[in-house]
Amino acid sequence: MADFGYDVSDHRDVDPVFGTLEDFDALAAEARRLGLRLILDYIPNHTSDRHPWFRDPARRDWYLWRDEPTNWRSVFGGSAWTRDPASGRFYYHAYLAEQPDLNWRHPAVREAMLDVLRFWIARGADGFRIDALRQLVKDDRFRDNPPNPAWREGDDDYGRVIPRYTTDRPEVAEQVARFRAAVGDERLLIGELYLPFERLVTYYAAGLDMPANFHLLSAAWTAEAIGALVDAYEAALPDGAWPNWVLGNHDRPRLASRVGPEQARVAAMLLLTLRGTPTLYYGDELGLRDVDVDVPRDPWRRRDPARSPMPWDGGPNAGFAPAGAEPWLPLGDGASVADQRADPRSLLALHRALLALRRTEPALWGGGHETVAAGDGVLAYRRGRTHLVVLNLAAERREHPAAGRVALSTGLDRDGEAVAGMLALRGGEGVVLRIAEP
Ligand code: GLC
Repeated sequence: MADFGYDVSDHRDVDPVFGTLEDFDALAAEARRLGLRLILDYIPNHTSDRHPWFRDPARRDWYLWRDEPTNWRSVFGGSAWTRDPASGRFYYHAYLAEQPDLNWRHPAVREAMLDVLRFWIARGADGFRIDALRQLVKDDRFRDNPPNPAWREGDDDYGRVIPRYTTDRPEVAEQVARFRAAVGDERLLIGELYLPFERLVTYYAAGLDMPANFHLLSAAWTAEAIGALVDAYEAALPDGAWPNWVLGNHDRPRLASRVGPEQARVAAMLLLTLRGTPTLYYGDELGLRDVDVDVPRDPWRRRDPARSPMPWDGGPNAGFAPAGAEPWLPLGDGASVADQRADPRSLLALHRALLALRRTEPALWGGGHETVAAGDGVLAYRRGRTHLVVLNLAAERREHPAAGRVALSTGLDRDGEAVAGMLALRGGEGVVLRIAEP
């Protein structure tokens, strides 16, 4: 594997590193028993260069070949074109050279890849996260991308050109419609789409349930920036579209490393009180930080620190792997699940309390969102008619006018407290308030 499995060489099997098809069946059965739904990562944009399709001379046109490269860049850096020594021609790869892009204009490619969806549905998948969706269809005339005037020496190589002819092409929406038709209405489709809001939200009409909203991953951690971001997203959403927010993922630095341990509590309250579906990256509920990695595993050399094993308990390898085994990546030194279960004020305890509150208070996930003027490092918003969320992104004490009763504080120590006129917040504290009846 060149990219942790994002380089598929057999769409109908499980790599031995991860297990077997029988393991998958056991996982699917256990998930069903627990009432959980199973979402698989579906990688339609590319295969591995070891996939039989790429090696089959009769299927050359299943991939993208040119006599001369264009100026298109790979997301991981360098030209997106690699020369095949046998033919002297170049093939396109949005990511690694070991990940050649499929030609989605070819009907046989489409049929074969839609069959992959059907295969995993029959095996128990309830939905899919569609990988690298914005890359899926490339310009049919292979036009050069325009240079990016904002690019400076030292910036990410991918940003040298604006990916106008390689991403978010109009034809991507047509393919999404095909995905939808293949999976039916009952299954969830999430699209991995790093796009500005006005483009992101067009993918609802195309057939996605959740065009993934990654904007919190790169937002400046200030009350003003986040308040403006939430308002812009809410304004951009089409009528009836269901929002979603992603706070962390396997491609970006850890939340606690991005915003710091104190603000990780505020971030949890934000994520779990915004309208729509939250996406929480494993380990962020423990406040795991980026780990130091001596032996790089990631071909891009930047994502390993956020991919360390889950620390379950105080046993060997933190309970993640048997004693004597060497985990794929080093363990960090953060508090384990067992430690945090025993601590009623832990970050894990806060997540559980937030999730429990969401369950009993539908306003927190489904109610309308209204940002309230606050300023000075405080972000405040009303959810439905019943709740006010006040988050102190500053390190110092702040006050915000409000009346009601504390439903939850990020400190987990103020439940039920009455607030009459002025809510006082400690530095880095967030509060969900049940508003007093008018
Ligand atoms: C997506 C995945 C990333 C992977 C890439 C190529 O961005 O999230 O982990 O490396 O696609 O498949």
